Amino acid sequence: MLKALEIKKDIYWTGAVDHESRNFHGYSLSPDGTTYNNYVILDEKKVIIDTVKTDHGGISMERLCGLIKPEEIDYIVVNHVEADHAGALPLFVEKCRPETIFCSPMGLKAIQAHFHHSADWPLKVVKSGDEVRIGKRRLTFLETRMLHWPDSMFTFVPEEGLLFSNDAFGQNLATSERFADEIAREVLEHALSSYYNNIVLPYSKQVKQILAKVGELQLDIAMIAPDHGLIFRRPEDVDFVLKSYAAFAEQKTRKRAVLVYDTMWNSTETMAYAIAEGLNSVGVPCRIMGLKENHHSAVMTEVARCGLVVVGSPTHNNGVMPFVAGFLNYMKGLRPQNRLGAAFGSYGWSGESVRIISEQLAGMGFELPVEAIKTQYVPDEETLENCFATGQNLGKALIAKCGS
Ligand code: FEO
Repeated sequence: MLKALEIKKDIYWTGAVDHESRNFHGYSLSPDGTTYNNYVILDEKKVIIDTVKTDHGGISMERLCGLIKPEEIDYIVVNHVEADHAGALPLFVEKCRPETIFCSPMGLKAIQAHFHHSADWPLKVVKSGDEVRIGKRRLTFLETRMLHWPDSMFTFVPEEGLLFSNDAFGQNLATSERFADEIAREVLEHALSSYYNNIVLPYSKQVKQILAKVGELQLDIAMIAPDHGLIFRRPEDVDFVLKSYAAFAEQKTRKRAVLVYDTMWNSTETMAYAIAEGLNSVGVPCRIMGLKENHHSAVMTEVARCGLVVVGSPTHNNGVMPFVAGFLNYMKGLRPQNRLGAAFGSYGWSGESVRIISEQLAGMGFELPVEAIKTQYVPDEETLENCFATGQNLGKALIAKCGS
């Protein structure tokens, strides 16, 4: 019943749409579900490009069986060993009995460490620049280390201008549509940004290098088929997604702020609103995001479009609130660059929270242009005026940094 979808002549999408998933990789939120895309090329050699998440293997296998018998498959390409792409590899190897499984040098190590089948699987390492002829088409490979893991690689089919990009250019979207030109551009932009800024952001330096390499190789890309989300098939969409990644990796400071906080008895929350008023008064738009109401992934997507991140927490047991500690730890791992930051919060008797937040932000490379603000118990009028003025000063510092 499940069918493959032809995306180019004799090249098919055979993936799985996961409408239910909200937990992506155990640490990130996917509020709109996700997809595990994989592909089949029918040439003289029959090739599978990637598999899918372990528990979706049967879905992809059913789509494949609608095209050919699994045992007719000659090659499987493993662009990345993470479980959402290679989890179903043992099933596909068992059913297809491929002549060769291609992977990168680091992919070989990762396959061995995941599946412990180095002796009985026909694994063959391919490196950047290697080429495999499959009939009238060729497969060429480009290692894309750290986009997303050390083993990751792209597979390019020059005769089709078709780039199988694995995690790169992916989006967490569960949709009936398969192509980027079939959905609203703002939905696509948000999903691309959310994916990049929660999964790929720490490797922005490598993204720049890989984009430069793609430019240097002068790949004539007509279609980009990622392993998550929608496929880019029009020249303007290919251009759009390449430029989006270049901009994401650049992390230019933007004139926008986010206030991230948790609160005990609403004092820190009240301060957040006063700081936001100050920011607004000097023309800096901002969003206020409580960490009880917003998942850390949603906050990171907002951080991505903000040049200023203001973090608030009351002092709790000589530290910060647990959600604030978790968020700071999450953001630290994602290594955002070119940001201003500030700390605020209430306290009862010891008052360490703002120092802890300030130190953590400074440790992540944030510039801290103003003194942190703290207030004992409940902010009075003077404190709220100070919060407002601090918001103004932060806004002015951000405008000065953005140059507009
Ligand atoms: Fe989609 Fe790195 O896994």
